[in-house]
Amino acid sequence: MDSVNDVATKAAQVSEAGQKHLYPPPADLAAAAHVKSLDEYKAMYRQSIDDPETFFGNMARQFHWEKPFDSVGPVYNFDLSKGPIKIDWFQGGKTNICYNALDRHVAAGHGDDVAILWEGNSPDEQASHTYHDVLDAVKKFANVLKSKGVRKGDTVTLYMPMVVELAVACLACARIGAIHSVVFGGFSPEAIRGRMADAQSKVVVTCDAVMRGAKPVQLKTQVDAALELGKDDFTVESVVVFRRLAGECPMVDGRDTWWHDEMATVTADCECEWVESEHPLFMLYTSGSTGKPKGIVHSTAGYMLGSWATFKYVFDYKPGEVYWCTADIGWITGHSYIVYGPLLERATTVMFEGVPTYPDAGRCWAICEKHAVNQFYTAPTAVRALMKAGDDFVTKHDRSSLRILGSVGEPINPEAWRWYYSVVGEERCPIVDTYWQTETGSFMITPLPGATPLKPGSATLPFFGVQPVVLDDKGVELEGEASGFLAIKKPWPSASRSCYGDHARFESVYYSMFKGYYVAGDGCRRDADGYYWITGRVDDVINVSGHRMGTAEVESALVLHPACSEAAVVGMPHEIKGAGIYCYVVLKDGQVASDELAAGLKAIVRKEIGPIATPDAIQFSEGLPKTRSGKIMRRILRKLAENPAIDMAELGDISTLADPGIVALLKDGAMKLA
Ligand code: WT7
Repeated sequence: MDSVNDVATKAAQVSEAGQKHLYPPPADLAAAAHVKSLDEYKAMYRQSIDDPETFFGNMARQFHWEKPFDSVGPVYNFDLSKGPIKIDWFQGGKTNICYNALDRHVAAGHGDDVAILWEGNSPDEQASHTYHDVLDAVKKFANVLKSKGVRKGDTVTLYMPMVVELAVACLACARIGAIHSVVFGGFSPEAIRGRMADAQSKVVVTCDAVMRGAKPVQLKTQVDAALELGKDDFTVESVVVFRRLAGECPMVDGRDTWWHDEMATVTADCECEWVESEHPLFMLYTSGSTGKPKGIVHSTAGYMLGSWATFKYVFDYKPGEVYWCTADIGWITGHSYIVYGPLLERATTVMFEGVPTYPDAGRCWAICEKHAVNQFYTAPTAVRALMKAGDDFVTKHDRSSLRILGSVGEPINPEAWRWYYSVVGEERCPIVDTYWQTETGSFMITPLPGATPLKPGSATLPFFGVQPVVLDDKGVELEGEASGFLAIKKPWPSASRSCYGDHARFESVYYSMFKGYYVAGDGCRRDADGYYWITGRVDDVINVSGHRMGTAEVESALVLHPACSEAAVVGMPHEIKGAGIYCYVVLKDGQVASDELAAGLKAIVRKEIGPIATPDAIQFSEGLPKTRSGKIMRRILRKLAENPAIDMAELGDISTLADPGIVALLKDGAMKLA
């Protein structure tokens, strides 16, 4: 865990670079925006905190409630010394998020509006799906799930690429009260196995294979391998396979069936299951500092309110506009800002199957031009990669439809910010830098494009209902300008409610560090204007291309290699990914370091977790810097990975190490690698 001093140093570097300019909202955009000024934002924010009953109650009443809620709440406990952590919004209500995302719009006469604009991997494949179409498919697939025995509260694992059927499957689960667990299509069989053993789903929905750029990616064979690996831990009764490519696909008799065959046997009549406000909607696995990935559980009503409100206000979405988020539905960004948020607002949401560099680095801007995209939302890592490809790829496409640009996943560096702002957005589009997490379900700290003056690199101010605080090492709230740990004081509607099957873990990871607070795991600085500057993770989590990677997970994979005795993993600066994965590996006696061995170690990490966890650097070393009690001093490893030329004096106190001599050896090795 970093100390407050480490956070302060980082914060000073981050904000100094970004604070020179203030970018006020463009006047014409502000005049037509849902929230038109900073004063209006402040008044709304005040009400959201002082009177959530009115503020969120009024927002929530636009939805259909089969049984209206008795009160908004929140009824909650954030203090472990007073009992279990509990968060409860919209008490007594019954609703269904699928109904609100689809049926409600169709019933109001908007069935012919486009819900999903699907853009294939190949630029000449596209499809447009109306709300009516999606609802029809969802009802049918809900019937398929029912025919497989899926009932309210059961879990369903979805391992799929970016095909419309993935959104359909999510909504079909929600329709019948089943809990979806989407596993990102890039995870390895071993990673799928772990998530399935935890979720115990009897039904898996997958796809034969998909093209990503010029490369075919097999999905069904990965699922088969995962089921084989996990056959002693769980039983899968049905695998439904969507056919995307025409190639061979192994099918197991009695277990595996084709999506299109199943859909042909069911009707498009399927009533919604009305569920309690707090009924779990989905879980999504995410990495932390220790142990296996946790299944973060989200609720129905609170999540519905949160994903909808943030989508509408932060992207300032107006009827008829076309919105595009480049994320994959395998991550929380895709759940909240491709599927649920946009559909709840009756938006047209673009779903892209391919990669930003295929057939060339202009693909994103070609799609913006083709579909006249108004809001474009991506991650800093993509911005940096596209920036490197050169301005021509951008400027040859018409981007005049763009109104708002978004960023998510990590702090956006000022250089990337300015390129995004001036080249992509022609200095016309505000950039909403949205800070949030898998656990928060929706945006926590974010500008509103018509209201908030921007500072490049700052996520700016809290969204409605969010009360951030900056804590010192002892958990004391700091006032005014301050650096420290980012924590949240009261529940916001879309807060995660638990870890699947392990509430104690949920409590210990998020609520035990400082009594009475949700602790985000990020450091931050609040400046004199009350703006928040996120400085990055303060725990043993690396943010690789905006995706969270637990160092412990990578270490566990490395030590599975027969030659590896011990491993320690830290983040290193990476031009495109933001952070790369740097591994210190101690070999077993008799093993000799070599390039082949390094390649083998990288391969085992890919096999255990997936290509996204591939190490960027492997440094063989004779030992690790350990204290006399055997604890690895990661601070030293992090500093060396960051800057191998660092002065020994800057490494801090190393006198408590069992063998201080190891540090010079590590530094030597790091210099050779760099
Ligand atoms: C972690 C959450 C939430 C969707 C994407 C990642 C970092 C996320 C920002 C931002 C600075 C950010 C934090 C956070 N992060 N957005 N705008 N500015 N940092 O979701 O995998 O749950 O990761 O991503 O470190 O804790 P996730």
